[in-house]
Amino acid sequence: MTLENADPIVESVVATVARSATEIRQGLIGRRGSVDAENPSGETQKEADVFADELLGDRLAGIDGVGQFASEERPDLVDCGETPGEGAYAVAVDPLDGSSNLESNNAMGTIFAVYDAPLPALGRDLVAAGYVLYGPIVTMVVATDEGVAEYELSGGERTLIDDDVTLPDDPVVYGFGGRVPDWPEDFEAYAREIETELKLRYGGAMIADVNQVLTYGGIFAYPGLESRPEGKLRLQFEGNPIGYVVERAGGRSSDGERSLLDVEPGELHDRTPVHLGNEALIDRLESALE
Ligand code: AHG
Ligand code: MN
Ligand code: MN
Repeated sequence: MTLENADPIVESVVATVARSATEIRQGLIGRRGSVDAENPSGETQKEADVFADELLGDRLAGIDGVGQFASEERPDLVDCGETPGEGAYAVAVDPLDGSSNLESNNAMGTIFAVYDAPLPALGRDLVAAGYVLYGPIVTMVVATDEGVAEYELSGGERTLIDDDVTLPDDPVVYGFGGRVPDWPEDFEAYAREIETELKLRYGGAMIADVNQVLTYGGIFAYPGLESRPEGKLRLQFEGNPIGYVVERAGGRSSDGERSLLDVEPGELHDRTPVHLGNEALIDRLESALE
Protein backbone atom coordinates (compact mmCIF):
# COMPACT_ATOMS: atom_id res chain seq x y z
CA MET A 1 0.00 0.00 0.00
CA THR A 2 1.26 3.52 -0.60
CA LEU A 3 -0.54 6.80 -0.16
CA GLU A 4 -0.51 7.69 -3.86
CA ASN A 5 -4.25 7.04 -4.16
CA ALA A 6 -5.08 8.56 -0.77
CA ASP A 7 -7.16 11.70 -0.44
CA PRO A 8 -4.74 14.68 -0.49
CA ILE A 9 -6.10 15.77 2.90
CA VAL A 10 -5.19 12.36 4.36
CA GLU A 11 -1.75 12.58 2.77
CA SER A 12 -1.32 16.03 4.30
CA VAL A 13 -2.23 14.72 7.79
CA VAL A 14 0.26 11.84 7.43
CA ALA A 15 3.00 14.14 6.12
CA THR A 16 2.39 16.59 9.00
CA VAL A 17 2.66 13.84 11.62
CA ALA A 18 5.80 12.47 9.94
CA ARG A 19 7.43 15.90 9.76
CA SER A 20 6.50 16.69 13.38
CA ALA A 21 7.84 13.35 14.65
CA THR A 22 11.45 14.47 14.21
CA GLU A 23 10.76 17.57 16.33
CA ILE A 24 8.81 15.62 18.94
CA ARG A 25 11.64 13.14 19.34
CA GLN A 26 14.17 16.00 19.71
CA GLY A 27 11.78 17.79 22.06
CA LEU A 28 11.66 14.83 24.47
CA ILE A 29 15.11 15.84 25.67
CA GLY A 30 14.74 18.04 28.73
CA ARG A 31 10.98 17.41 29.00
CA ARG A 32 11.02 14.19 31.03
CA GLY A 33 9.32 15.65 34.09
CA SER A 34 5.65 16.06 35.00
CA VAL A 35 3.65 19.26 34.97
CA ASP A 36 1.19 20.23 37.65
CA ALA A 37 -1.83 19.36 35.48
CA GLU A 38 -3.94 16.34 34.57
CA ASN A 39 -5.22 15.18 31.19
CA PRO A 40 -8.98 14.61 30.67
CA SER A 41 -8.46 10.99 31.81
CA GLY A 42 -7.22 12.24 35.17
CA GLU A 43 -3.59 11.27 34.55
CA THR A 44 -0.68 13.59 35.43
CA GLN A 45 0.69 15.16 32.27
CA LYS A 46 4.35 15.02 31.31
CA GLU A 47 6.03 18.13 29.93
CA ALA A 48 6.52 16.14 26.73
CA ASP A 49 2.78 15.32 26.51
CA VAL A 50 1.98 19.04 26.51
CA PHE A 51 4.80 19.86 24.08
CA ALA A 52 3.79 17.16 21.56
CA ASP A 53 0.12 18.09 21.87
CA GLU A 54 0.70 21.80 21.24
CA LEU A 55 3.00 21.12 18.29
CA LEU A 56 0.67 18.62 16.61
CA GLY A 57 -2.55 20.48 17.44
CA ASP A 58 -1.50 23.75 15.85
CA ARG A 59 -0.38 22.02 12.66
CA LEU A 60 -3.12 19.42 12.21
CA ALA A 61 -5.98 21.80 13.07
CA GLY A 62 -4.57 24.18 10.45
CA ILE A 63 -4.84 21.74 7.53
CA ASP A 64 -7.54 22.64 4.96
CA GLY A 65 -10.04 19.78 5.09
CA VAL A 66 -9.54 18.97 8.78
CA GLY A 67 -12.92 19.97 10.25
CA GLN A 68 -12.30 18.86 13.83
CA PHE A 69 -9.19 18.13 15.92
CA ALA A 70 -9.16 16.23 19.22
CA SER A 71 -6.35 15.14 21.50
CA GLU A 72 -6.11 12.78 24.44
CA GLU A 73 -4.53 15.74 26.25
CA ARG A 74 -7.39 18.20 25.65
CA PRO A 75 -10.83 18.07 27.34
CA ASP A 76 -12.72 19.36 24.30
CA LEU A 77 -12.38 18.95 20.56
CA VAL A 78 -11.26 21.89 18.42
CA ASP A 79 -13.84 23.03 15.85
CA CYS A 80 -11.89 23.93 12.69
CA GLY A 81 -14.93 25.29 10.85
CA GLU A 82 -15.72 22.40 8.48
CA THR A 83 -18.08 19.46 9.06
CA PRO A 84 -16.37 16.02 9.13
CA GLY A 85 -18.18 13.58 6.84
CA GLU A 86 -19.19 16.35 4.44
CA GLY A 87 -15.90 16.73 2.56
CA ALA A 88 -13.82 17.29 5.68
CA TYR A 89 -12.27 14.87 8.22
CA ALA A 90 -11.90 14.72 11.99
CA VAL A 91 -8.38 14.03 13.32
CA ALA A 92 -7.78 12.53 16.77
CA VAL A 93 -4.32 12.08 18.26
CA ASP A 94 -2.59 10.56 21.24
CA PRO A 95 0.38 12.92 21.03
CA LEU A 96 2.62 10.75 23.17
CA ASP A 97 1.61 7.17 23.89
CA GLY A 98 3.49 5.55 26.78
CA SER A 99 4.86 8.84 28.10
CA SER A 100 5.47 7.18 31.48
CA ASN A 101 8.38 5.47 29.65
CA LEU A 102 10.16 8.79 29.34
CA GLU A 103 11.77 8.59 32.79
CA SER A 104 13.15 5.11 32.05
CA ASN A 105 14.06 6.04 28.45
CA ASN A 106 12.00 3.27 26.92
CA ALA A 107 10.07 3.32 23.63
CA MET A 108 6.90 5.37 23.10
CA GLY A 109 4.83 6.62 20.20
CA THR A 110 2.41 9.08 18.61
CA ILE A 111 -0.98 7.81 17.41
CA PHE A 112 -3.21 9.47 14.82
CA ALA A 113 -6.71 8.70 13.52
CA VAL A 114 -8.54 10.25 10.55
CA TYR A 115 -12.33 9.83 10.77
CA ASP A 116 -14.83 10.64 7.98
CA ALA A 117 -17.40 11.62 10.61
CA PRO A 118 -17.77 14.05 13.52
CA LEU A 119 -16.16 13.06 16.85
CA PRO A 120 -16.67 11.00 18.87
CA ALA A 121 -16.91 8.62 15.90
CA LEU A 122 -17.34 4.93 15.18
CA GLY A 123 -14.10 3.14 14.26
CA ARG A 124 -15.78 2.04 11.00
CA ASP A 125 -15.66 5.73 10.01
CA LEU A 126 -11.85 5.69 9.94
CA VAL A 127 -10.29 6.34 6.52
CA ALA A 128 -6.69 6.25 7.81
CA ALA A 129 -4.85 5.65 11.06
CA GLY A 130 -1.35 4.90 12.23
CA TYR A 131 1.46 5.66 14.56
CA VAL A 132 5.04 6.83 14.93
CA LEU A 133 7.30 4.62 17.08
CA TYR A 134 10.20 6.38 18.83
CA GLY A 135 12.50 3.38 19.08
CA PRO A 136 16.18 2.94 18.17
CA ILE A 137 14.90 3.99 14.74
CA VAL A 138 11.90 6.31 14.30
CA THR A 139 9.40 4.39 12.18
CA MET A 140 5.86 5.16 11.07
CA VAL A 141 3.07 2.72 10.29
CA VAL A 142 0.17 4.00 8.17
CA ALA A 143 -3.04 2.08 7.41
CA THR A 144 -5.70 3.01 4.87
CA ASP A 145 -8.42 0.89 3.25
CA GLU A 146 -5.71 -0.29 0.81
CA GLY A 147 -3.51 -1.85 3.46
CA VAL A 148 -0.63 -1.04 5.81
CA ALA A 149 2.77 0.49 5.05
CA GLU A 150 5.85 1.05 7.20
CA TYR A 151 8.31 3.93 6.77
CA GLU A 152 11.57 4.97 8.38
CA LEU A 153 11.63 8.64 9.35
CA SER A 154 14.69 10.83 9.26
CA GLY A 155 14.91 14.61 9.09
CA GLY A 156 11.18 14.84 8.41
CA GLU A 157 11.53 12.57 5.35
CA ARG A 158 9.70 9.23 4.99
CA THR A 159 11.43 6.20 3.41
CA LEU A 160 9.08 3.34 2.48
CA ILE A 161 10.34 0.12 4.09
CA ASP A 162 7.37 -2.22 3.59
CA ASP A 163 4.28 -1.51 1.47
CA ASP A 164 2.38 -4.58 2.63
CA VAL A 165 2.67 -5.01 6.41
CA THR A 166 0.75 -8.14 7.38
CA LEU A 167 0.48 -9.93 10.70
CA PRO A 168 2.60 -13.14 10.65
CA ASP A 169 0.42 -16.28 10.75
CA ASP A 170 2.26 -17.97 13.61
CA PRO A 171 1.99 -16.05 16.91
CA VAL A 172 5.15 -15.58 18.95
CA VAL A 173 4.68 -12.78 21.53
CA TYR A 174 2.05 -11.59 24.01
CA GLY A 175 1.73 -8.54 26.23
CA PHE A 176 -1.08 -8.00 28.77
CA GLY A 177 -1.52 -4.76 30.74
CA GLY A 178 -2.92 -4.24 34.18
CA ARG A 179 -2.02 -6.18 37.35
CA VAL A 180 -2.68 -9.91 37.55
CA PRO A 181 -4.72 -9.66 40.78
CA ASP A 182 -6.90 -7.07 39.03
CA TRP A 183 -7.67 -9.29 36.02
CA PRO A 184 -11.15 -10.83 35.91
CA GLU A 185 -11.02 -14.60 36.41
CA ASP A 186 -11.94 -15.48 32.82
CA PHE A 187 -9.20 -13.22 31.42
CA GLU A 188 -6.67 -14.62 33.91
CA ALA A 189 -7.50 -18.19 32.86
CA TYR A 190 -6.96 -17.21 29.21
CA ALA A 191 -3.68 -15.47 30.10
CA ARG A 192 -2.46 -18.60 31.90
CA GLU A 193 -2.96 -20.60 28.69
CA ILE A 194 -1.26 -17.99 26.49
CA GLU A 195 1.78 -17.70 28.77
CA THR A 196 2.53 -21.40 28.18
CA GLU A 197 2.40 -20.86 24.39
CA LEU A 198 4.00 -17.48 23.66
CA LYS A 199 6.86 -15.22 24.84
CA LEU A 200 6.10 -12.26 27.13
CA ARG A 201 6.82 -8.89 25.55
CA TYR A 202 5.30 -5.98 27.55
CA GLY A 203 6.93 -2.58 27.76
CA GLY A 204 4.28 -0.17 29.00
CA ALA A 205 3.72 1.69 25.73
CA MET A 206 0.90 0.23 23.63
CA ILE A 207 2.50 1.37 20.36
CA ALA A 208 5.79 -0.40 21.08
CA ASP A 209 4.02 -3.54 22.29
CA VAL A 210 1.61 -3.64 19.34
CA ASN A 211 4.50 -3.06 16.91
CA GLN A 212 6.09 -6.28 18.27
CA VAL A 213 2.81 -8.11 17.63
CA LEU A 214 2.69 -6.74 14.07
CA THR A 215 6.32 -7.79 13.54
CA TYR A 216 6.35 -11.24 15.13
CA GLY A 217 2.66 -12.22 15.43
CA GLY A 218 0.80 -12.66 18.70
CA ILE A 219 -1.54 -10.68 20.92
CA PHE A 220 -1.64 -7.45 22.94
CA ALA A 221 -4.32 -6.66 25.49
CA TYR A 222 -5.17 -4.09 28.07
CA PRO A 223 -8.25 -5.86 29.39
CA GLY A 224 -11.13 -4.67 31.49
CA LEU A 225 -10.12 -4.91 35.16
CA GLU A 226 -12.05 -5.81 38.32
CA SER A 227 -11.30 -2.29 39.54
CA ARG A 228 -12.07 -0.70 36.16
CA PRO A 229 -14.21 -2.86 33.81
CA GLU A 230 -13.79 -0.32 31.00
CA GLY A 231 -10.01 -0.81 31.07
CA LYS A 232 -7.44 1.96 30.64
CA LEU A 233 -7.13 2.76 26.92
CA ARG A 234 -9.21 5.37 25.13
CA LEU A 235 -11.43 4.31 22.21
CA GLN A 236 -11.08 7.44 20.05
CA PHE A 237 -7.34 7.98 20.51
CA GLU A 238 -5.92 4.45 21.03
CA GLY A 239 -8.41 1.58 20.55
CA ASN A 240 -9.95 2.63 17.23
CA PRO A 241 -6.74 3.67 15.39
CA ILE A 242 -4.70 0.67 16.49
CA GLY A 243 -7.65 -1.68 15.98
CA TYR A 244 -7.92 -0.33 12.43
CA VAL A 245 -4.17 -0.85 11.79
CA VAL A 246 -4.19 -4.44 13.08
CA GLU A 247 -7.38 -5.35 11.18
CA ARG A 248 -5.99 -3.82 7.95
CA ALA A 249 -2.88 -5.97 8.53
CA GLY A 250 -5.02 -9.12 8.61
CA GLY A 251 -5.53 -9.46 12.35
CA ARG A 252 -8.48 -8.87 14.66
CA SER A 253 -9.39 -6.40 17.39
CA SER A 254 -11.92 -6.78 20.19
CA ASP A 255 -13.33 -5.09 23.26
CA GLY A 256 -13.97 -8.62 24.50
CA GLU A 257 -17.17 -9.08 22.51
CA ARG A 258 -16.81 -7.37 19.11
CA SER A 259 -14.37 -5.53 16.86
CA LEU A 260 -13.25 -2.28 18.45
CA LEU A 261 -14.38 -0.60 15.23
CA ASP A 262 -17.98 -1.56 16.08
CA VAL A 263 -17.92 -0.16 19.64
CA GLU A 264 -20.50 2.62 19.83
CA PRO A 265 -18.79 5.91 20.73
CA GLY A 266 -20.03 7.57 23.93
CA GLU A 267 -18.00 10.45 25.28
CA LEU A 268 -14.82 11.72 23.60
CA HIS A 269 -12.48 10.29 26.26
CA ASP A 270 -14.32 7.05 26.97
CA ARG A 271 -12.10 4.05 27.72
CA THR A 272 -12.49 0.51 26.37
CA PRO A 273 -10.91 -2.88 26.97
CA VAL A 274 -8.46 -3.45 24.09
CA HIS A 275 -7.38 -6.83 22.65
CA LEU A 276 -5.47 -6.95 19.35
CA GLY A 277 -3.62 -9.53 17.27
CA ASN A 278 -3.89 -12.85 15.47
CA GLU A 279 -7.43 -13.77 14.53
CA ALA A 280 -7.42 -17.21 16.18
CA LEU A 281 -6.12 -15.80 19.47
CA ILE A 282 -8.78 -13.08 19.54
CA ASP A 283 -11.54 -15.55 18.61
CA ARG A 284 -10.32 -17.76 21.50
CA LEU A 285 -10.30 -14.79 23.86
CA GLU A 286 -13.89 -13.81 23.02
CA SER A 287 -15.00 -17.40 23.66
CA ALA A 288 -13.14 -17.34 26.99
CA LEU A 289 -14.87 -14.11 28.04
CA GLU A 290 -18.40 -15.21 27.08
P1 AHG B 1 -0.46 7.21 27.49
O1 AHG B 1 0.97 7.45 27.85
O2 AHG B 1 -0.85 7.83 26.17
O3 AHG B 1 -1.40 7.53 28.61
O4 AHG B 1 -0.63 5.67 27.19
C1 AHG B 1 -0.19 4.77 28.14
C2 AHG B 1 -1.00 3.52 28.00
C3 AHG B 1 -0.52 2.61 26.89
O5 AHG B 1 0.46 3.14 26.07
C4 AHG B 1 0.04 1.42 27.60
O6 AHG B 1 -0.31 0.23 26.97
C5 AHG B 1 -0.57 1.51 28.98
O7 AHG B 1 -0.87 2.86 29.23
C6 AHG B 1 0.38 1.03 30.02
O8 AHG B 1 -0.33 1.06 31.23
P2 AHG B 1 0.39 0.49 32.55
O9 AHG B 1 1.38 1.53 32.94
O10 AHG B 1 -0.76 0.35 33.52
O11 AHG B 1 1.02 -0.82 32.18
MN1 MN C 1 -1.69 6.32 24.96
MN1 MN D 1 -0.68 9.81 25.60
